[in-house]
This record gives sequence, C-alpha cells and structure tokens, in this order.
Amino acid sequence: MAPMEAPSAPLTFDSPASLPLRHRVLFTSGAFGTSNPALASVLVDPSAAAPRRLVAFVDSGVAAAHPALGAQLHAYLAAFPGMPEPALFQQVPGGERCKRSHAVVDQVIHAIDAHRIDRQSYVLAIGGGAVLDAVGYATAIAHRGCRLVRMPTTTLGHDDSGMAVKNGINLGRKKNFIGTFAVPHAVVCDEAFLASSPDWSWCGGFSEAVKIALLRDPAFFAAIERDAAAIRARSMDAARPVIRRSAELHYRHIMLGGDPFETRSARPLDYGHWLAHRLEGLTDGELPHGQAVAIGVAVDTQYAACAGMLPQADADRVHATLRALGLPLTHALLADLDTVAAGLEEFREHLGGRLTLTLLRGIGDPVDVHAMDAATLRDAVAVTSRAS
Ligand SMILES: NC(=O)c1ccc[n+]([C@@H]2O[C@H](COP(=O)([O-])OP(=O)(O)OC[C@H]3O[C@@H](n4cnc5c(N)ncnc54)[C@H](O)[C@@H]3O)[C@@H](O)[C@H]2O)c1
Ligand SMILES: [Zn+2]
Repeated sequence: MAPMEAPSAPLTFDSPASLPLRHRVLFTSGAFGTSNPALASVLVDPSAAAPRRLVAFVDSGVAAAHPALGAQLHAYLAAFPGMPEPALFQQVPGGERCKRSHAVVDQVIHAIDAHRIDRQSYVLAIGGGAVLDAVGYATAIAHRGCRLVRMPTTTLGHDDSGMAVKNGINLGRKKNFIGTFAVPHAVVCDEAFLASSPDWSWCGGFSEAVKIALLRDPAFFAAIERDAAAIRARSMDAARPVIRRSAELHYRHIMLGGDPFETRSARPLDYGHWLAHRLEGLTDGELPHGQAVAIGVAVDTQYAACAGMLPQADADRVHATLRALGLPLTHALLADLDTVAAGLEEFREHLGGRLTLTLLRGIGDPVDVHAMDAATLRDAVAVTSRAS
C-alpha cells in the first residue's frame, strides 16, 4: 500500500471545459395564430418523457393593448400536439419600474414554485426589455435555471435586447447590477406586437440600430440615415430591414464574437452606454434606455470629433440621423458634468479591469480608448446640445 500523503499536501484540479451553446431567435408575425408554427417549434419537445408545464408573464402595457392575449395563448397551446400544459397567465408591471426592486423577481419565483415548473418546463415572458430582464433573472435563478422563452414586444427588444444572453434588475441607481448570464431556451420576435408600442418606445429602439451600424456597417448607417423619417413615421416597411439587420449584427457579435458572457474589459456593443446608464440612473429610470443611448451615442461621437479623431462631418450625420428618428441628443443633467462623468468609473467597475471605451475614427471604424479627457468631454457636450 502506498504511504499516505501528509494531510496538508497541496492538491489542484484545473481543467478547461467548453459547453455547446444554442441560442435560437425566430422572427415572425402573428405568433399566436394557430397556423403559425414558430412558437410551437420551440415548445414541443419530442424527447420529453414527462408532461411539461408553462407559466406566462405579460408586461402590463402589452396586456392593456392586447386584452385577448391570454385566451389566444390558451387556444394556441391547445392547437398543437405535444405542447406544455398552461398553468398560469399573469401580468407584471411594464417598464423600468419592474427592475427597481425584487418584487417581480419574487412574483415569478413563487409562481414557478406554486405551479411546479421544473427545469424542463417553461416560463414565457412577453414584454419590453425591462420585463424580459426581470422575468429572465427570476427564471435563471429558480431551480438554477428553467427554460425561458422570451417574446420581446418593443423595437429595442427586437433589434437589440432580445438577442442578449443576460438578464437583470437594478440596485438603487445602478443599472443591471443584479443579474446573470443565461442563454434563453428561445426568443420569438413577433412583429405584430410592435404596432401597439408607444411612440417614444418605437423611436427609442432605433438608437441601438444606429449604435451598431456606427460600429459595424457604414452602408447600414447610410440606409438608416436615408429612411429615418419613414421609420419615425412608423412605416413597418422602412423599419423591418433596419430591425432585422440590427438584430443580426447584435446576434453575431454575441454568438460569434468569442465573448458571449463578457469576461473581457471591452464591451464594444456598449458604445455610448457609459453615459446612457448614468443618465438612466440619475433620472431613476425616467429617461428610457433608448433615449439615453441616443444621447450617449451623440455625445461620444462628438467627443471623437472634438478630440480630432473623427471628421466633424461624420458627427453631424450621426446627430442629424438621431434627430430625424425623433431622438434626443442632450439632457438637462449634462449641465452638471462632474456628476455625470462619475458614470465612467461606474462603467469600469461593472465590466471589471481597466476602463475601456469604444470611440469612432470613422463611421464603421471603432477604436478602444482607456480614458476620457474632461475638457474635451465638456466641449463635446456643448456642441451636441447646440446640435439638438
Ligand atoms: N438584457 C440585455 O442585454 C438588454 C439590452 C438592452 C436593453 N436592456 C434593457 O431593456 C430595457 C428597455 O426595454 P424597452 O426599450 O423594450 O422598454 P420597456 O421594457 O421599458 O418598455 C417600454 C414601455 O412600453 C410598454 N410596452 C412594451 N411593449 C408594448 C407593446 N407592444 N404595446 C404596448 N405597450 C408596450 C411597456 O409596458 C413599457 O411601459 C432597459 O431596462 C434596458 O436596460 C437589456
Ligand atoms: Zn442598450
């Protein structure tokens, strides 16, 4: 027999492992039509050995605009063989208020418990990005993760947040401080919901399309620039290709960019977001995310122009496009720039490591920087507010 090792001998287990990720996103229209198989395709599980159940949570704003939604969902689940059994259809408060406390998270966790949702059963979340974030967080932590099917109902949900593999709620004024990275079971984007979203929300979502176009695709930016007035007037024909291209670029970055769970300090998709998140926090969520992103993109773009990195003519095009989309370029809180600029440190802390911000050298030509100069930022804020 081998001699026993001393009890204090060091012992290490250290092995890399990679997990296959599948992130399914489907775009459709009229998802609850009983001849539309999109939603059924992600809810029917031929390998399921035991009956599965489904609880649904709907954004109160969506429920008010679509009073027959519960009945439509029931009829839909009954129309296809092998669907999970509906156990609950419940409203949650829509908008940023659902991320301000644990109330919605608790509501969902208790429902998962009360309705015996196991890890192969489903939570269906229908709503704006805020509701999807709060319900998604609860679903990710109950049983350490049940199957989440997200149905985004806003332009921002379709062109950006629906592609995300994360969720969260706010801690005081700190956006998304509490949350997890979790790949949803599936995402079904039903274009029919977008028609009832409020005007401010409709316009707000396109700031994320402008953002990703500036980072990735100059021709896409030119298309948004050309069609901005029609998009603002809510032409679905003008909006659809923009929403879908933005979604594709966000999706590709997340799934093919090599860092889906954001372990690095750089977060290129967060162009303009250090300021956006700070303004959202300082206004306690009164300034919507989409509008805050428009201001963040406008100021960071002008910062690059003031720093001599970006031609002023490019910054002018960005400002004109945001304005044509009905989006703001500035906010009264920018008068107190020292308070606002503290958002840079908050942003660094949230990502970890060294402060890394994305700026533009040209449209479609991003570059990472590690600091912002206070005087240049002050100039950029002044120019942007004159342009608004
Ligand atoms: N998880 C992520 O990676 C990620 C990415 C981007 C944004 N977000 C988050 O998303 C949130 C913003 O989401 P949003 O822009 O979708 O807005 P939102 O969720 O605040 O919803 C906007 C408002 O419209 C209402 N509404 C939504 N859809 C409707 C519809 N079809 N008909 C009628 N009313 C409707 C809601 O009740 C709400 O009052 C922010 O909290 C932001 O932090 C998350
Ligand atoms: Zn955003």
